[in-house]
Amino acid sequence: MKKLSIVYHTQSKSTEKLANYIYEGCLKENSVETHLLLAAEADSSTLLSSNGVIFGTPENFGYMSGGLKDFFDRTFYKVEEKNINIPYCTFVSAGNDGTGAVTSIERIVKGYPLIKVAEPLIIFGKQVNSNKKKCVDFGHGMAAGLALGIY
Ligand SMILES: Cc1cc2nc3c(=O)[nH]c(=O)nc-3n(C[C@H](O)[C@H](O)[C@H](O)COP(=O)(O)O)c2cc1C
Repeated sequence: MKKLSIVYHTQSKSTEKLANYIYEGCLKENSVETHLLLAAEADSSTLLSSNGVIFGTPENFGYMSGGLKDFFDRTFYKVEEKNINIPYCTFVSAGNDGTGAVTSIERIVKGYPLIKVAEPLIIFGKQVNSNKKKCVDFGHGMAAGLALGIY
């Protein structure tokens, strides 16, 4: 069975809501085992044992959150030497932008290296509930791609 991990950080819980919706979408794919993890709970073994990963973060000061950055700081050397090349995608909860968070993640994960397989999903703060379907579909798409061996 393929393993998919969702690794996210949240401060005021908007990103967590998105993460839960995305998780719901991933669970539609029975042949993929999906794990939902706060970035603080995840470590290098999370990446080394996964066939795919979804990163989630609020945008803070035009960058990913410190919590997700800490995850990358803790895992980079341990993962880089294994050359894992697994697929990933990103979702961002932002007040009004989100592109800085996306760019910062994409730049860092190139070094792991991970392979981007979907365009990032950016949802603006107050529009979480109205975008539930988009989030569910985003998670389902990632899980289905893994299940079908597309990535
Ligand atoms: C310290 C701080 C910095 C922020 N910087 C940005 C920013 O640069 N761009 C943006 O679009 N939103 C920014 N925001 C708004 C958050 O990204 C937005 O409220 C997000 O939904 C918070 O997600 P969370 O509830 O999961 O923490 C910032 C919020 C905080 C607290």
